[in-house]
Amino acid sequence: MEATTALRTNGAVRGFTDDPVSDAVVAELLDDARFAPSGGNQQPWRVAVVKSPEVRAAMAALMRPVWEEYQGAQRAGKRAFAFGRSTGDAPVAVPNALIDDIQSVPVVLAVAADLTKIAIMDGNQDRRPPVVGGASIYPFCWSILLAARARGLGGVLTTFLSRAEAEAAPVLGLPADHALVATIFLGVPTHQNTKLRRNPVSSFATVDRFDGPPLTDER
Ligand SMILES: Cc1cc2nc3c(=O)[nH]c(=O)nc-3n(C[C@H](O)[C@H](O)[C@H](O)COP(=O)(O)O)c2cc1C
Repeated sequence: MEATTALRTNGAVRGFTDDPVSDAVVAELLDDARFAPSGGNQQPWRVAVVKSPEVRAAMAALMRPVWEEYQGAQRAGKRAFAFGRSTGDAPVAVPNALIDDIQSVPVVLAVAADLTKIAIMDGNQDRRPPVVGGASIYPFCWSILLAARARGLGGVLTTFLSRAEAEAAPVLGLPADHALVATIFLGVPTHQNTKLRRNPVSSFATVDRFDGPPLTDER
């Protein structure tokens, strides 16, 4: 698959067929993804390939209240978890295939980052939260999803479990000074959305300054 095609068509997949994905294929995806960039080439990633029904059940139990809190905020017309805050709205129970059917998802990856290896270049700013450190781990996550797409697989990067990191840490054996950055679900898609809704370049790119004139393809 052309790189540009993969970049433009890698929509989130949350429904999977019963087709299994072998450990060999998962290892291939990780073998591709390890070429992702990271600050200082520190490669801070760790991956737990979660197969145990007990561990999966525990993960789902921790994700569910986060999902319901998110739904509660959405229903109230608010942006959930902005600056890490709760909106205080009542949680709303809504089905979620990833959580409800976690046992049947072909591949569940818990991804962690070794914080001792990440230079948090905006960690000195008064504004919170620091965000630059994530750039040393999320390209790796996205590369897993692109590697999956290249093989006819699909998936989605999720972060619900990060909100319950303290509770998830003992379940997953998260090492000290590591952050739980993502749970990635993968499998053969029941449907691959390739027509993605994304804002046009003109909506976010300007020249010289963020308040500069819009970038156009006419210059
Ligand atoms: C940092 C990040 C966090 C995300 N967290 C979740 C999540 O917790 N649960 C979920 O279902 N999807 C999650 N997603 C997937 C997004 O919802 C998805 O990429 C976005 O809505 C675009 O969907 P589309 O590819 O179908 O257009 C996350 C994606 C990113 C990049």
